[in-house]
Amino acid sequence: MSNAAIPKAFVVGHPIAHSRSPLIHGHWLERYGIAGAYERIDVAPVDFAAFLVNFAGNGFVGGNVTLPHKEAAFRGVRVATARARRLSAVNTLWIENGLLHGDNTDVLGFVASLDAALGIGWENDLRRAVVLGAGGAARAIVAGLLDRGVDSVAIVNRTPEKAREIVAFDPTRLTAHGLDALTALLAGARLLVNTTSLGMTGQPPLQVDLAPMPEGAAVADIVYAPLETALLKQARERGLAAIDGLGMLLHQAVPGFERWFGIRPEVTPELRAAIVADLEKKP
Ligand code: ATR
Repeated sequence: MSNAAIPKAFVVGHPIAHSRSPLIHGHWLERYGIAGAYERIDVAPVDFAAFLVNFAGNGFVGGNVTLPHKEAAFRGVRVATARARRLSAVNTLWIENGLLHGDNTDVLGFVASLDAALGIGWENDLRRAVVLGAGGAARAIVAGLLDRGVDSVAIVNRTPEKAREIVAFDPTRLTAHGLDALTALLAGARLLVNTTSLGMTGQPPLQVDLAPMPEGAAVADIVYAPLETALLKQARERGLAAIDGLGMLLHQAVPGFERWFGIRPEVTPELRAAIVADLEKKP
């Protein structure tokens, strides 16, 4: 087969050098013996609309979209899934019947990572959650928690107005707060999720005292570099369940791979170990 005929997918972002998506999809292509390719593409915001129009002509079947293009991708697709419409953000693109389609798999990625770490049914125990942050990742995580039927989610953010925008998803179950409310909220919470980049290598630390959280609670972090953030270390030392951000990254990749390459791939310990090894080389 000539190179031109193999299915090619991409991850597009700006910057994009740090993205682990090529490693994840490359691992699956090899594991399933698929003659395909997955490439990193750096596109500046000013060029993104043209990129969307042209990628199929350049031989790509679709791809992932990462920062800062998820909202522009949503605006640029002809057909968006209900999940993408709810978040006004798209992270997975493909062509179907000649039309550009978009989905948002971050929601599925987050709940699948909790399923894998805590076992199906976690939502029956963890009925009250606190979400720290109010950006795009927070919106996806709040949507996932609402889908699973948790009783309440308190959204805590440095800028409470941004948290208030998310409350509109479901004002009966969501509340918005400033950082000063965190300690009191943690005392009544069974699940804490950090959706900010604080605690990531090169970012300021996240200063949260988990002491008020009850026994049996769980703490999840979307940060995966380092894999064990100070927040997760503190959780583990307190005997709370600690869920790192790598699970969400791996699980959000599954639906895209299936669309582009035709096989639903598995998130295995081998895949996880391959990404962990890479993170250890260059966090
Ligand atoms: P993403 O879309 O990836 O979630 P984002 O929109 O930049 O990223 O959101 C980052 C989140 O981290 C926001 O909730 C932000 O708080 P503000 O809304 O007040 O900006 C939060 N964040 C970033 N730096 C922070 C800091 N130093 N202290 C507290 N919160 C911070």
